[in-house]
Amino acid sequence: MNDRERALETWKKHNDDDYLYRHALSVEAAMRWWARTYGEDEDYWGCVGLLHDIDFQKHPEEHLVHSARMLAEAGYGSDFIRAVNSHGFGICTDIEPVHTMEKVLYAVDELTGFIYACALIRPSKSLDDLETKSVLKRMKTPAFAAKIDREVIRNGADMLAAVTPGFSLEDLISGTIEALRPVGREIGLQTVA
Ligand SMILES: [Fe+2]
Ligand SMILES: [Fe+2]
Repeated sequence: MNDRERALETWKKHNDDDYLYRHALSVEAAMRWWARTYGEDEDYWGCVGLLHDIDFQKHPEEHLVHSARMLAEAGYGSDFIRAVNSHGFGICTDIEPVHTMEKVLYAVDELTGFIYACALIRPSKSLDDLETKSVLKRMKTPAFAAKIDREVIRNGADMLAAVTPGFSLEDLISGTIEALRPVGREIGLQTVA
């Protein structure tokens, strides 16, 4: 069994919700794309993305309280667990994203859902013809996908600007749209032929 298969098995041990599965796949795809961009370990980043919400289905009111136990049981080490828990920084944990991987996870968690929402209302229902500027515009429309916290996305972009000078919110959005295109169908969107 490879790392990805093991991560998926761990996810399925604790989750079966379709919406959460699509979210896990989305964050995984984003983590893989950004790992390649930063020249880092794609599989490791991808597995962190896949498992970042491991305890959410069973413990929505105690998110990230149970993740360390679930991940340790499955054999994941302290660095992996720390990375998972850091995505709740300022929301449900006080573990600050420090490593680039943690900053990317923090930045793409809400953003993948926002990009999905932007694609879903297009006539094509696709990421293929979704432009960065349209996502930026919708971020400034509070009524659109109102539950998604724009501040987290902006904070994430700022964290990454500390890693790569000049890195912008536009860079974060355009990279993450590109990252999600290959899994468009898997996460419930269409593809433009
Ligand atoms: Fe989460
Ligand atoms: Fe999440």
